[in-house]
Amino acid sequence: MQIDPTQYIRQIIRNVPDWPKPGVTFRDITPVLQDPRSFRVLIDLFVYRYMGQKLDLVAGVDARGFIVGSVLAYELNLGFVPVRKKGKLPFNTVAEEYSLEYGNASVEMHTDSVRPGQRVLLIDDLIATGGTLLAAARLLQRLGANVVEAAAIIDLPELGGSQAVKDSGLSVYTVCS
Ligand code: PRP
Ligand code: ADE
Repeated sequence: MQIDPTQYIRQIIRNVPDWPKPGVTFRDITPVLQDPRSFRVLIDLFVYRYMGQKLDLVAGVDARGFIVGSVLAYELNLGFVPVRKKGKLPFNTVAEEYSLEYGNASVEMHTDSVRPGQRVLLIDDLIATGGTLLAAARLLQRLGANVVEAAAIIDLPELGGSQAVKDSGLSVYTVCS
């Protein structure tokens, strides 16, 4: 059977209207993860893109970025480092704030999670406003990392996030929108 991998992933992502609040359509990746074929197609898309590229680490964003990021790191024979929501990491941390619709949030990394000059692929499930990925990229850059690309499964281009990440000087890759 001939399938277009991007279309295949897009049709399995579940759109949940009015969640977590009225007017928001939540893009739910759990059906993609649950189905062995689409999970493999998804990971393989990332593997084909990054296989053979000079990378040292994959950094995945809490929480859904952990799922794809850790599997991808394993497949590429790279280490994985978590970018966590505030207050979850036990050792010395650096933090970056970002804006949510109401108020602020922050992400943290361990200060020893990246060495200066390491080439890092940053990954999450979705880019909406881009605030999360931009904050994660700032953290990595403060630690001296070279962020080779910011990747996600889903782009919501109407929210301008992927453009904002590109405008910050980063390369961006998303599987579908
Ligand atoms: C979601 C998503 C991204 C972020 C994208 O995470 O997984 O990390 O929002 O939004 P942005 O581009 O506007 O920053 P969320 O903060 O809902 O946390 P979760 O993964 O713990 O559900
Ligand atoms: N994070 C921010 N906006 C989102 C959306 N529409 N679906 C899933 N995760 C999100």
